[in-house]
Amino acid sequence: MLDYKNPNLIITTTDLEPGQVTWRSPSNIAIIKYWGKHGVQLPRNPSISLTLASSFTDTRLEYAPKRSGEKDISLQFFFHGEENEKFRAKMLTFLESVTDIFPFLRQLDLIVRSGNSFPHSAGIASSASAMSALALCLCSLEEELFETLSDDEEYDKKASYVSRLGSGSACRSIFPTAALWGKTGEVEGSSDEFAVGMGDELHEVFKSYHDDILIASKAEKSVSSRAGHALMDGNPFADARYADAKRKLIRLLDAMKAGDLEEFGKITENEALTLHGLMMSSNPSYILLKPNTISMIERLKAYREDTKHPVYFSLDAGPNLHVLYPNDIVHEVRPFIEEELVPLCEDGKYISDWVGEGPEQVD
Ligand code: DP6
Repeated sequence: MLDYKNPNLIITTTDLEPGQVTWRSPSNIAIIKYWGKHGVQLPRNPSISLTLASSFTDTRLEYAPKRSGEKDISLQFFFHGEENEKFRAKMLTFLESVTDIFPFLRQLDLIVRSGNSFPHSAGIASSASAMSALALCLCSLEEELFETLSDDEEYDKKASYVSRLGSGSACRSIFPTAALWGKTGEVEGSSDEFAVGMGDELHEVFKSYHDDILIASKAEKSVSSRAGHALMDGNPFADARYADAKRKLIRLLDAMKAGDLEEFGKITENEALTLHGLMMSSNPSYILLKPNTISMIERLKAYREDTKHPVYFSLDAGPNLHVLYPNDIVHEVRPFIEEELVPLCEDGKYISDWVGEGPEQVD
């Protein structure tokens, strides 16, 4: 097990200047899903995702030497310019949980300013982009104060590890194009504790893949992902699911390396529906899909049947439909999406997204 606890990361200078670090970090869409965990945020099966571009969180971490002698973390939190007590409390719990890794956090007055590129009420999960942006800021702050993370690979590994502690899926957002999280014999260096970048291993076609996110409902989910993961512990199909995910991962990697879009699409859709099947077979069971989600799936399948275009869907733990397709058919697929799917969305809302280059430091 990796151990990032480091009591030496303590500020000893008396003339520390106030400063700030800022990161923009994207969301990601899992193709093989992480659903079910154990221990401290460890996955029950390996997952693989495409890193997105236009759905991101911007986070700025401002710091100054602490004015009071208190040991508690001193934090102010602004979301889209407004103080937000609910988010502050969540972030404080997370920061407290990583003070063994970043002991200097107790020595500073911290202000975090954060905002998403997508509307907060769009029903889009923001934990992956938000937690990865914060983890990147923490690692940059460590580097700025102690120069201990100058090696890029070490930096990404630690940022991914810390992101995972905040939200499992966030550890995959650190890398361009695609990332794999979870130990598998198929990928050397893979780990349950952090994700590894997969962009270079995959067929070129995925570097410019599209993911248009059709908003079936903007309402907050009735069951959180955290609660959903916990329900996997009592799910009678859990063991079969974990074994199935491991098998599918092997097939998916082969398909993604070869650029076999049909095999990629079949596995992608099967994973999406399996995820929701697991929710329906949990105890208590629940349904996050909406009638318009199903209508959109039916339209998409009919379009694929008619045109033979490799357009497939995925789903997160929510009702919104992710429509995945390669860039060379964007001019054919867009009119279909706008004419046939968008009218089925809540308030006609959708987010055009695509595979991106991963996080960037913005200061
Ligand atoms: C369905 O990463 O949101 O999106 O670790 O409890 O924060 P926590 O869960 P989270 O779960 C994501 C679930 C998923 C699948 C995936 O992204 O792999």
